[in-house]
Amino acid sequence: MQTISFYPESREFHLSNDRISYFINVMKNGQIGHLYFGKKIRERDSFAHFMQLKTCSHTSYLYDDDLTMSLDIARQEYPGYGTTDYRYPAFRIEQENGSSISNFIYQSHHIFSGKKKLEGLPAVYAEKDDECTTLEITLEDSLMQASLILSYTVFDRYDAVMRSVRFVNHGNQQLKLTNAQSMAVDLFDSDFEMLQLDGAWSRERHVHTRKLVSGIQSVDSMRGHSSAEHNPFIALKRPETTEFQGDAYGFALVYSGNFLAQVEVSRFEHARVLLGINPLEFAWTLNPGDSFQTPEAVLVFSDSGLNGMSQIFHSLFNERLVRGPWRGKDRPVLINNWEGTYFNFNDEKILSIAEKAKEFGVELFVLDDGWFGRRDDASSSLGDWYSDKNKLVDGVEGLSRKITSIGLKFGLWFEPEMVNRDSELFRAHPDWAIATPGRSMSHGRNQYCLDFSRDEVVDCIYEMMEKVLRNSDISYVKWDMNRDITEAYGAKLGSGRQGEFFHRYMLGVYRLYEKLITAFPDILFESCASGGARFDAGMLYYAPQAWASDDTDAVERLKIQYGSSMAYPVSSIGAHVSAVPNHQLNRITSLSTRANTAFFGAFGYELDPDKLSEEEKAEIKEQVAFFKKYRHVFQYGTFYRLISPFEHNGNTSWMAVSEDRKTAVFAYYKVLATPNPKANKVRLKGLDPEAVYVCSRAGEEYYGDELMNMGFLPDLEYTGSRVRNPAVKFKNSGTDIGDFTSQLYVLERK
Ligand code: GLA
Repeated sequence: MQTISFYPESREFHLSNDRISYFINVMKNGQIGHLYFGKKIRERDSFAHFMQLKTCSHTSYLYDDDLTMSLDIARQEYPGYGTTDYRYPAFRIEQENGSSISNFIYQSHHIFSGKKKLEGLPAVYAEKDDECTTLEITLEDSLMQASLILSYTVFDRYDAVMRSVRFVNHGNQQLKLTNAQSMAVDLFDSDFEMLQLDGAWSRERHVHTRKLVSGIQSVDSMRGHSSAEHNPFIALKRPETTEFQGDAYGFALVYSGNFLAQVEVSRFEHARVLLGINPLEFAWTLNPGDSFQTPEAVLVFSDSGLNGMSQIFHSLFNERLVRGPWRGKDRPVLINNWEGTYFNFNDEKILSIAEKAKEFGVELFVLDDGWFGRRDDASSSLGDWYSDKNKLVDGVEGLSRKITSIGLKFGLWFEPEMVNRDSELFRAHPDWAIATPGRSMSHGRNQYCLDFSRDEVVDCIYEMMEKVLRNSDISYVKWDMNRDITEAYGAKLGSGRQGEFFHRYMLGVYRLYEKLITAFPDILFESCASGGARFDAGMLYYAPQAWASDDTDAVERLKIQYGSSMAYPVSSIGAHVSAVPNHQLNRITSLSTRANTAFFGAFGYELDPDKLSEEEKAEIKEQVAFFKKYRHVFQYGTFYRLISPFEHNGNTSWMAVSEDRKTAVFAYYKVLATPNPKANKVRLKGLDPEAVYVCSRAGEEYYGDELMNMGFLPDLEYTGSRVRNPAVKFKNSGTDIGDFTSQLYVLERK
């Protein structure tokens, strides 16, 4: 059961559920201090002794008669800069006299059941009021006549604290917010490693860890979206923490634009974690009466290692971030024509793909880029969201009906935020493309971003999309975003408010999503940004799944999917089987390894079935049937990372276990074959120790405790020469021995 208690004597707030505690207090100066965040501990009236303020040489103090009260030493919850604290602050407000010094002190608080919505922003939600409790603390700066409302929600079921901040200007002067983080926390010590998810196009969310050192370490995005380069998620783990044991803190921002995730280790070795909108290029004007709401941050704690932390994010995001009819629902097996045809298709080709896919057992056909305007390559037509009848005689409207009459659902690609110079939209509204007056416009893939900070732009795109969606038979939309924003400038914002541009752009994106979801509640949205450049918790609120990467190579996917799973559930990770040689890397992997990797995701195919051999077609049919049987376990089972591709020459293992522990799917991927290899053993997780499990390999039986402690032995690698091992068979569709092999087994409780 979750509770939030206030102890008036000690002025402490204790937030907890059955497994975690989060303790904060009103410090002597009225600001909010941080006492503890971690494994649940027993309640007492006060933990003030833990604050341990001390006299310290060479610092500044708030009061004449107290040589301990320095914010330089205090561990805080939402620190400002300049009144004895010199670390990077959580916020900064410029006042009319030019000062940015503030003093927000405790005024009141409010504890209530449930959780409020964040206007215009994605956020974790409560389904029933009694499943979570919220604390709002109002702090006031009397000189500035402004308040800060710090919000904290703790759930019964999830070991997480949701935080956000609201700034309100109720005075008479104009204020300028130049930094407004969603959260800050000063952890007691800095003996942590920081885990981050980094990469680039085609190799998104690779796991990197580094030991915290004195000073600032951070990841961020300034690209206008959360980016392939860094992800708005970091974890802090103890050096001894593993995937299975030890303390791990996760911090995820429910936001899809420019962000900062930063840890600063102070001279007293406190670790200050900040997470929020990137302050670089951010400034928000608060006129009298105005307020500003930050995005939400999710803070997770687990003492069961990184897997424990990830599992909390997975269930929280699956159950209380994803909304609508697709929440918790098995995702359709799809076929996407992009790698199969690129821009080169017509009705006949599409129908031929769809008909074959139907025979495979696929459930959804997705028409990717190239169906609109006059789009035969990447140089034109973005913004013209109506069918190209040269390619599709009866338009998308007619094609969608033909596809649904085959017995498949129909899905469609859009890139709503973009425009090409060569488009009707650009010719009609050249000023809608983001540009800085007097400067040239940089392009990315020949395209320009539309100014989504302007309502009329968002509304116009909505109308075009609405018409297509209304007139066709569409159950899925892939929403792409294929470039970074440059020369950012809001033509309608005026000179004083350019710092609002990036956030207003995101609010425009969220508004369009919300309008579409409201009008078409049953459509399944998949977000995409040149692959996985906007794979974040913010997007999951609107699009329950995301295209993880344009890289469909099975071996590369091991790293991408492993990294993504740090914070994001398997159900959200778009993963497709594509053709070989792989289009991104030219690598050849077997059809079974490609599927064994993609099964752990929102599964589908992205190839031209007309190019497959009969044998491959038969194998795909089997794959789809197999996947459908175990889809719920793959997508919603408890997911365990077992062997990291970043540590063992790329070899990887992971598994998923159904909630009732009756069924488990276990996979082992061997990247490079080893001569004369040792036997491998993998200790499985999450099984019922008492139960007997039957393995799909040969019907052999194991006890759960045996599999979890002694371990499971994947098949031995092929070794020696073919001549001496005539029993070894090669499959036509690829290699099931040699490099890039995989093994996938189902364990069923007897
Ligand atoms: C991006 C996406 C791809 C595909 C192309 C179409 O690169 O990530 O999946 O949709 O755009 O242009």
